[in-house]
Amino acid sequence: MTHKVALSFEDGLTRFIDVLPHETVADAAYKARINIPLDCRDGACGTCKAFCESGTYDGGDYIDEALTDDEADAGYCLPCQMSPESDLVLRISGTAEMAKTGIQKFTARIERLHWYADNTAGLTLSVENRDKLNFLPGQYMNVLVPGTGIERSYSFSSGPEERELRFLIRTAPDGVMTTYLKERAAVGDQLVLEGPVGSFFLREVRRPVLMLAGGTGVAPQLAMLEKLASSGVQPAFPIHMAYGVTFDTDLVEVEALERYAELIPGFTFDTIVADPQSAAPKKGYVTQHLLPAHLNDGDVDVYLCGPPPMVDAVRRYWADAGITPANFYYERFAVGEVQEHNVHAGAAA
Ligand code: FES
Repeated sequence: MTHKVALSFEDGLTRFIDVLPHETVADAAYKARINIPLDCRDGACGTCKAFCESGTYDGGDYIDEALTDDEADAGYCLPCQMSPESDLVLRISGTAEMAKTGIQKFTARIERLHWYADNTAGLTLSVENRDKLNFLPGQYMNVLVPGTGIERSYSFSSGPEERELRFLIRTAPDGVMTTYLKERAAVGDQLVLEGPVGSFFLREVRRPVLMLAGGTGVAPQLAMLEKLASSGVQPAFPIHMAYGVTFDTDLVEVEALERYAELIPGFTFDTIVADPQSAAPKKGYVTQHLLPAHLNDGDVDVYLCGPPPMVDAVRRYWADAGITPANFYYERFAVGEVQEHNVHAGAAA
C-alpha cells in the first residue's frame, strides 16, 4: 500500500510524497525530485536524520553512529533506510530551498463569501487540481490579493480531506484583503494561492491535548478537529479547547465545535468572552478558565493560535504555574493592517 509522507522543512514549507511498499523515504523523495539531505544512503553517516512527528515505520538497518537507540526511541529516524507502515509526517533538517524544492501555486475560485459580522468573513474556495493540494491540519496558504500584488496568509479552517477550502478572515481598517473582500470580491473570482506553509500542525495525539484559540485563531484548530473527526480513530486522550474572543459577535463556528464534541470522543470546549457586558457564562480570558485537569501537571500538548498578547499571556501563565507542557506549539498573528497576515511563529517545545 502506498503511503503519503509529509516532508516538513525548517523554513515552514511542506511537500508530500507517495512512498511505495518497501520503498525508502529517500528513494521516493528522489523520484519526486526533492533533495533531502543525504550522504552515504546506507545508514552509516546520520546525514539524513529526521524527526517523525506522526505515523509508524520500519526503521531499516543502520549503525549506532548514524542513529543511537535513544534517538530512535525519541522519534528520530533515517529516511535513507526507513519504510513507512502508515502515512507519516517527517521533520527534515534543512530548508526546502536546500532540497531544491519550492512552494506550490494553485488557482482557486471563490465559491462563497460569508460575513459572520462586520469584522469577520468566511471564504470558501474550490481548486481544480484539489488532489495535488495536500496540507497538514493547522497549516496556512499565502493568498495573492487580486489587483494588488500583495500576499496575505490564512490558515485553513477546513480539513485536509474536504474538497472545499475554507478560511476565516478577520478584517482590518484599510487592509488590502479587507478592501478587496468588501468592495470587489464576487463569487467566481479567481485567486492565486501558494503553499502549504507552516509547522503549526496537529501531531499524533500521544497525551492529553489543550487547544487555546483567540479570535479567528480558531481556524487552524477547526482544521485539526475536522481531521480527528474524519479519521474515525478514537483519540486515546482527552482534547479540550478554550476559545476566547473580545465580544459576543466575535464567536464563530460554535455549531461546528458542538458537532465535533459529538463526533470526537473526549473532546470538550469552552467559549470565553472578554467583554464584561457579555451575557456569556464564561467571561474574561482563557487562562482564567483552565482547570488542573486541563494542565495535567504538564503532561499535555498545547496548541495555541491567537494574537501576540494572548500568546505572551499564556506563556506567562505556564511560567507562573511552574509547569512546562510536554509540547507547546503556537502561531500568532499581529493586530492592525497586518492582522490579515498570520505571522508564522512555528512550534516551540
Ligand atoms: Fe547516511 Fe542516511 S544518508 S545514514
